Amino acid sequence: MTADEARDAYACISATLAEGYAKSGSQWAAVYRNWRNVAAQPYVSDTHGARYVNNYANDIGADNYSLFEEAGPSPVGTVLAKDSFVVKGNGKVAAGPLFLMEKMEAGFDADSGDWRYTLIMPNGRTIGTTGGKGAKNVVFCADCHLDEDTDSRFFLDEEYRVQ
Ligand code: HEC
Repeated sequence: MTADEARDAYACISATLAEGYAKSGSQWAAVYRNWRNVAAQPYVSDTHGARYVNNYANDIGADNYSLFEEAGPSPVGTVLAKDSFVVKGNGKVAAGPLFLMEKMEAGFDADSGDWRYTLIMPNGRTIGTTGGKGAKNVVFCADCHLDEDTDSRFFLDEEYRVQ
């Protein structure tokens, strides 16, 4: 897909995504689309199921996250939200999960770098959340993300960043 096609596909499905995620009861699922999206276009993320994704950051975290590699650790209270969708062979756009990272107080969970990872399906089912229900189902998030030097953030490829 071209960048414009990816944007069009997202425009078609973004409200459906937010509506489905919000059924989880997550306070972030209901509001993340009002946050800053640092992705200039939806891009394919191989590490999140080869789906098209965006990268939103809430008010507490957006200025920091927008500095990418130059950013120090995310402030406590930062929430990063990555929604997702797939485009099928027949051109149909289908919803994918919501990936959340929430920077908690020091001491929350050393194994996750004090981030709370949450995975929410398009129908609102929560697969797991660090320190809560289904916590073991999201251990794989921290297993890949955990890195003291970058405060566990990978950032998106430069070509997809909002300039
Ligand atoms: C195999 C490695 C891997 C796994 C597993 C993984 N991620 Fe990621 N994640 C990445 C990479 C690489 C990026 C940056 C590139 C991108 O956006 O795809 C990223 C980016 C993110 C971001 C944006 C913040 C950042 O790091 O820049 C969020 C939010 C996120 N992932 C959440 C999750 C959640 C929640 C899970 C588990 C359900 C998860 N990830 C599992 C590798 C992984």
